[in-house]
Amino acid sequence: MRRPVLAANWKMNNGPTAARAFIAAFTARWTPHDDRTVIFFPPAVALTTVVHALGGRRDLDVGVQNIWTEDKGAFTGENSAPMSKDAGARYALVGHSERRHVFGETEAQTAQKCAAAVRGGIIPILCVGELLAQREAGTTNDIVLRQLEVGLSELSPDAIASMAIAYEPVWAIGTGKTATPSDASTVHGAIRSALDKRLGKSSGDVPILYGGSVNAGNAKSLLSTPGIDGLLVGGASLDVEGWAAICDT
Ligand code: PGA
Repeated sequence: MRRPVLAANWKMNNGPTAARAFIAAFTARWTPHDDRTVIFFPPAVALTTVVHALGGRRDLDVGVQNIWTEDKGAFTGENSAPMSKDAGARYALVGHSERRHVFGETEAQTAQKCAAAVRGGIIPILCVGELLAQREAGTTNDIVLRQLEVGLSELSPDAIASMAIAYEPVWAIGTGKTATPSDASTVHGAIRSALDKRLGKSSGDVPILYGGSVNAGNAKSLLSTPGIDGLLVGGASLDVEGWAAICDT
């Protein structure tokens, strides 16, 4: 059985001072469970603070919210996969909806970023998800499966088999609206079938996370929904008690 993955996407919140305080409070509050993976995605400026604050705890992991497509060079403001790994990141989110829709990240760039992550020894978590208008037009699966196909297009089967996918309907992110378990289950099933087809065998080891207004109140029903292997949590991961409750689910 896949280990559930619980990922905290802090977005542009918690600089080093707040991050240090958060991790201290969280590690004091949370009893380690070795049957699940918990990952923090702090802002890049707080990455090493979080790594040090975790003090080598093996039950808690760290990732970056974004990487650039190249390994180094004249790319002002960006961070590469090798640099992120050097700073202690094990994972990178790629293609988060805010990267796509606020910063104009293209599908081709998500493919290059997934490839850059793997090349740099970082595990990509490719985020996919439809806009409200696309859901209403009945094109959810087309959009999500296209984002998946393009995002994975530069990866070897072995790289795909060791990464993760996050399905985050854009209309559910930060809005308080969550996909119904049955809606989410349908999309997760379509992603699973596409992964199996792409690999030519079972993609069983690739966790498919759900994200979009997850909180301590709905985490349990989402995690018990067939096809949902973990949660990518934004707003509700900023509160120590609420995040610990989600990680305890
Ligand atoms: P939310 O964000 O939990 O605040 O909806 C999730 C995400 O964007 O990853």
